[in-house]
Amino acid sequence: MKIAVIGCGYWGNHLLRNFYQSKDWELAYACDTDQKQLDKFAVMYPEAKTTTDYAEIMADNSVDAVAIATPVHTHYDIALAALEAGKHAWVEKPLTDSSASARKLIEAAEKNNVQLHVDHTYIYTPAVQKIKDLIDNDELGDFRYFDSIRVNLGLFQHDINVVWDLAPHDFSILHYCIGKKPIAVNATGKALEKYGTKEIESIAYITVHFEDNTMAHFNVNWMSPVKIRQIIVGGSKKMLVFNDMSTDEKLKIYDSGVSIQNREEIYDTLIQYRTGDMYSPRVENKEALKTEVEHFYECVKAGKATITDGTSGLYVVQLLEAAEISIKNNGKLVEL
Ligand SMILES: NC(=O)c1ccc[n+]([C@@H]2O[C@H](COP(=O)([O-])OP(=O)(O)OC[C@H]3O[C@@H](n4cnc5c(N)ncnc54)[C@H](O)[C@@H]3O)[C@@H](O)[C@H]2O)c1
Repeated sequence: MKIAVIGCGYWGNHLLRNFYQSKDWELAYACDTDQKQLDKFAVMYPEAKTTTDYAEIMADNSVDAVAIATPVHTHYDIALAALEAGKHAWVEKPLTDSSASARKLIEAAEKNNVQLHVDHTYIYTPAVQKIKDLIDNDELGDFRYFDSIRVNLGLFQHDINVVWDLAPHDFSILHYCIGKKPIAVNATGKALEKYGTKEIESIAYITVHFEDNTMAHFNVNWMSPVKIRQIIVGGSKKMLVFNDMSTDEKLKIYDSGVSIQNREEIYDTLIQYRTGDMYSPRVENKEALKTEVEHFYECVKAGKATITDGTSGLYVVQLLEAAEISIKNNGKLVEL
């Protein structure tokens, strides 16, 4: 099957390499409005055509799918053009800049009987696949909380704030591994440095609330001196720590918890703490994008949705949108 990559900047570069190396896909086009980018890729991938106008790709009936890695505000127009031209669409995270446009893309994909895939790359990492397995096999017990930290120095973006830049990764992991429907979001954030004319938040704290009184918390920051990529999932039986910066022990499962007994007869509460063993399951080493490119092909061929389809894209965009509204209203609770 033939694929075109539209947007050949930082991330598009990784997509080009993975589609080019794939045994399933033929890289048919590299498209970017910047001719200098294209000149570079014309040398690296001489079999692929190059164009600065994505309309050329939409008009080419031999192209089965497009992968869109352009700035977020352009995703909707390009993806809609692809879906309406009957092409499967792989769209970078976040799917769109509003939940209304994400819904329209989902409808367009259904109407044209093509797949809408969102590149939530983390879902395809062996570590997140392992977390999902552990949760599905009830290793952790009932879900209690999700706590994530994703902080580093930069890269400041010109069109989106730190929430839209970093939180899609953690929101997509929350959706895939925990899968609970959020009922409300509140968030605070600040533009710590002013650059340009816009106020773009570079630090934010987001809380997502669920119906059963559980919660998820996200700390995203472009102004941290150290890079931290950590998620803790608390369960009633065990607790899990995912440290993506670790090379050999990315996942640790702690047999820790509390059990609380209310002894009414003596008006007393007994809390027992359990700090048992810790183990670190083996996590294989495979590039997530390679797995994702294979999965996209299998799903397109079989006519079925990918594990990060439009629904997962919409879930993430809804949380981003709610967090943004809450930040602009000083942390007000935004119901979903
Ligand atoms: N999945 C991930 O882990 C991941 C990581 C980084 C970025 N991204 C996403 O990838 C997308 C691109 O981010 P980036 O960091 O590569 O940005 P970038 O600025 O490096 O690249 C974007 C490219 O798109 C081109 N472009 C803009 N408008 C275009 C149009 N209409 N037609 C064709 N080309 C056009 C630009 O010239 C540029 O080369 C964003 O949505 C971002 O969120 C995803």
